[in-house]
Amino acid sequence: MSFYNQHLSLLGFLGLCIISSLVLSQNHTLIFSKDNNIRNCSCSSDIHSCDYSLANLECSCKTVHPKNKTGSRLSYSGNLTIWFSDTSTLGKLVNFTFVHNLKLSLCGTTALPTEYLAILGLRHLRVQAEAMAEQSLTIYNSSDQKVRDRPFPTFRDKQTQFHISFLDTSVFNGLPLLKSYSVENVSSILEHFPNLPFSSVISATNKSYIVTLIY
Ligand SMILES: *[C@@H]1O[C@H](CO)[C@@H](O)[C@H](O)[C@H]1NC(C)=O
Ligand SMILES: *[C@@H]1O[C@H](CO)[C@@H](O)[C@H](O)[C@H]1NC(C)=O
Ligand SMILES: *[C@@H]1O[C@H](CO)[C@@H](O)[C@H](O)[C@H]1NC(C)=O
Ligand SMILES: *[C@@H]1O[C@H](CO)[C@@H](O)[C@H](O)[C@H]1NC(C)=O
Ligand SMILES: *[C@@H]1O[C@H](CO)[C@@H](O)[C@H](O)[C@H]1NC(C)=O
Ligand SMILES: *[C@@H]1O[C@H](CO)[C@@H](O)[C@H](O)[C@H]1NC(C)=O
Ligand SMILES: *[C@@H]1O[C@H](CO)[C@@H](O)[C@H](O)[C@H]1NC(C)=O
Ligand SMILES: *[C@@H]1O[C@H](CO)[C@@H](O)[C@H](O)[C@H]1NC(C)=O
Repeated sequence: MSFYNQHLSLLGFLGLCIISSLVLSQNHTLIFSKDNNIRNCSCSSDIHSCDYSLANLECSCKTVHPKNKTGSRLSYSGNLTIWFSDTSTLGKLVNFTFVHNLKLSLCGTTALPTEYLAILGLRHLRVQAEAMAEQSLTIYNSSDQKVRDRPFPTFRDKQTQFHISFLDTSVFNGLPLLKSYSVENVSSILEHFPNLPFSSVISATNKSYIVTLIY
């Protein structure tokens, strides 16, 4: 190994160390609703689901003012965990939120009706309920393949599609296995998925979508 190569690999190693320490110091966002209050917490560790008092103790939490925007168009760069006990709260907190890593925990034993929750940019999902052990799902797209095939993405690879996932909320009632199905190059969600109640929300654009159904 030449002198320069050694230097380069040392630099690469240091870079990795810096990246991993940044990742480790990143707090999780935990949002839950309790006694008609919405609490937004920053936690440095994974708190056992639905343990509200532990969350208030271990995390740095503040009450979300009713006027603060929730859900729609909010974007999270880190991991997001939501504890909820009914679909309307779930919808209020995460419908149309942009997040890569999401964990949803149903607190309580109420059975949920089938409704659809839209999540943007989702890559990894964990769901959990009292009636069901935690399940997780990783969603890939064809750009993933391209990136893995070629370490240096070209300009074309960067023109990725807009990724939208629809989660059927009845999964929390304890289905045996969480499944997902993705369709790429969808130009019209209304035409491809006429049964999804989202036609008024996702207007026709020239964008191409990757649509993932989680059920
Ligand atoms: C991480 O969470 C802890 C409390 O759990 C808090 O004291 C700290 O300020 C948070 N750090 C960041 C970067 O948000
Ligand atoms: C509520 O909104 C205000 C102003 O937009 C912001 O400073 C505050 O952090 C928000 N609170 C929460 C809990 O997100
Ligand atoms: C929760 O707090 C984070 C940062 O502390 C903020 O980015 C996010 O918008 C907040 N979410 C809600 C629903 O208030
Ligand atoms: C975020 O979640 C993913 C998948 O669950 C996990 O691999 C990763 O370590 C988490 N990141 C942080 C900062 O906790
Ligand atoms: C999310 O929003 C869509 C469109 O407004 C609505 O049809 C759907 O019921 C909402 N989902 C939940 C779980 O609230
Ligand atoms: C697909 O995967 C690539 C590489 O992992 C990522 O950069 C891109 O954001 C993903 N595209 C969508 C639409 O999720
Ligand atoms: C989506 O469209 C791109 C570009 O037109 C094409 O390369 C790709 O094969 C298509 N993917 C699928 C699954 O049809
Ligand atoms: C879609 O693209 C066509 C031609 O490129 C353009 O004329 C039209 O205005 C675009 N429509 C939208 C909604 O962006």
